Amino acid sequence: MELQQLAFERRSIRGYKPDPVPKELLDEIIEVAAQCPSSMNTQPWHVHVVTGDVLDRIRAGNTERMVETGKPDREIRGHGRYEGDHRDRQKRVAAQLFEAAGIGWDNAEQRQDWVMRGFRQFDAPVSVIGCIDRELYDSTEAYFDLGQFVYGMVLAAWDRGVGCVINGQGIMQSSVVRAEANIPDDQLIVITVAMGFPADDFPANDVVSERRPVAEIASYLGFDG
Ligand SMILES: Cc1cc2nc3c(=O)[nH]c(=O)nc-3n(C[C@H](O)[C@H](O)[C@H](O)COP(=O)(O)O)c2cc1C
Repeated sequence: MELQQLAFERRSIRGYKPDPVPKELLDEIIEVAAQCPSSMNTQPWHVHVVTGDVLDRIRAGNTERMVETGKPDREIRGHGRYEGDHRDRQKRVAAQLFEAAGIGWDNAEQRQDWVMRGFRQFDAPVSVIGCIDRELYDSTEAYFDLGQFVYGMVLAAWDRGVGCVINGQGIMQSSVVRAEANIPDDQLIVITVAMGFPADDFPANDVVSERRPVAEIASYLGFDG
């Protein structure tokens, strides 16, 4: 597919077929992602691809500890509640997803069930845990580098019929993820990406989230003669 088409047609996938994703296909996807640029070509990323029992233990532990403690235990600095425009955009995409999934905005039980799905990485057959070298904890560039890697991975997956959702909720209890996935001490857990073949009968997979227009995003200076 052309990049243009990939960029416009990709969507986050939150309903998956149980079918496994072949390791050769995952290798290909990761190889494409690894072609992204990085600061001084440092390539500070590592990915841990988990499936089967390991992933099931991560889902269970992440969910149980979230329910038990009610607060995240992550290795990265997070944000608190989004405010202003950020909050408005967050609410807008949530409204789109809830409508597609048949979740009532005021139905606390249904909303909680959706949040739990997030902690379970939407029951995807594969999870790719994205890490950076811990010694770069204070380097904003390293997170930027991993972000590019992750977007490349998501696009390469989509191009091959594999759906993804980048899933911050999946590593809310990072100590569980670290123990179960055997993450080396010199790596920092930043994000996970749930992956698998998209379910055909999951309307939230079809949600097209909105984007700010270029005129609002970009300021041009010095172009007018
Ligand atoms: C860093 C990051 C973390 C995310 N975490 C979650 C998450 O925890 N749960 C979720 O449902 N979606 C998560 N997403 C997906 C976004 O909600 C999604 O990309 C956004 O709403 C735009 O929709 P689209 O990907 O379908 O274009 C995350 C995306 C990013 C980039």
